[in-house]
Amino acid sequence: MSAGRFLTLEGGEGVGKSTQARALVAALEARGLHAVLTREPGGSEGAEAIRALLMQGDVRRWSAHAEALLFAAARADHVEKVIRPLVDAGSWVVCDRFLDSTRAYQGAQGIDDAAILALHAFGSRGLLPDRTLLLTLPEGQGDARARARDGDDADRFAARDSDFHRSVVATFDRIAASESDRVRRIDAGGAPETVTARLMEALADLLP
Ligand code: TMP
Repeated sequence: MSAGRFLTLEGGEGVGKSTQARALVAALEARGLHAVLTREPGGSEGAEAIRALLMQGDVRRWSAHAEALLFAAARADHVEKVIRPLVDAGSWVVCDRFLDSTRAYQGAQGIDDAAILALHAFGSRGLLPDRTLLLTLPEGQGDARARARDGDDADRFAARDSDFHRSVVATFDRIAASESDRVRRIDAGGAPETVTARLMEALADLLP
């Protein structure tokens, strides 16, 4: 079996990430690869338990520091129990959000990027994706899609204000600019099939 790969999808609210994550797994399987979809926070039994703590309740339920630790703890479990074993066994793992979401969302709450990377080095032995696909839409479009989807059921993060979401998008853009080997920006506009084709194109050099 050929080598496994670890791919992540990132982006702000309402860019169609989860739909594209599913479509990407199907496209990889159509190429004869064994592909597995997972997500964060969550993806392993322990991490899903932490997800419930993180996603529910009042916006101020956790301090920013406690929240950063919970995301790092969930990720450590997910990496050790699910991601590393699958990649080592030759699978292509597609993860809906990963470390860059912590850098963007918890960074927007004042947590220092170096601290987040240090937690990741400790918890997940610094595992980085082979490629990160950052879905982008013009400002305002993602928020509108997320509001139409979630209505009054937005989770603790989606419920924050537009300055917060602008900061999230700016951090994703900064990461893409400074880590351009790993991170590719993908235009999330247009028909879903067109977006999936763009994702596959951005993986062309990794595909067997
Ligand atoms: P979503 O992926 O279903 O949109 O929900 C996940 C929410 O959790 C989203 O609002 C972003 C937030 N989040 C963080 O704040 N930090 C993280 O590390 C991750 C993975 C997600």
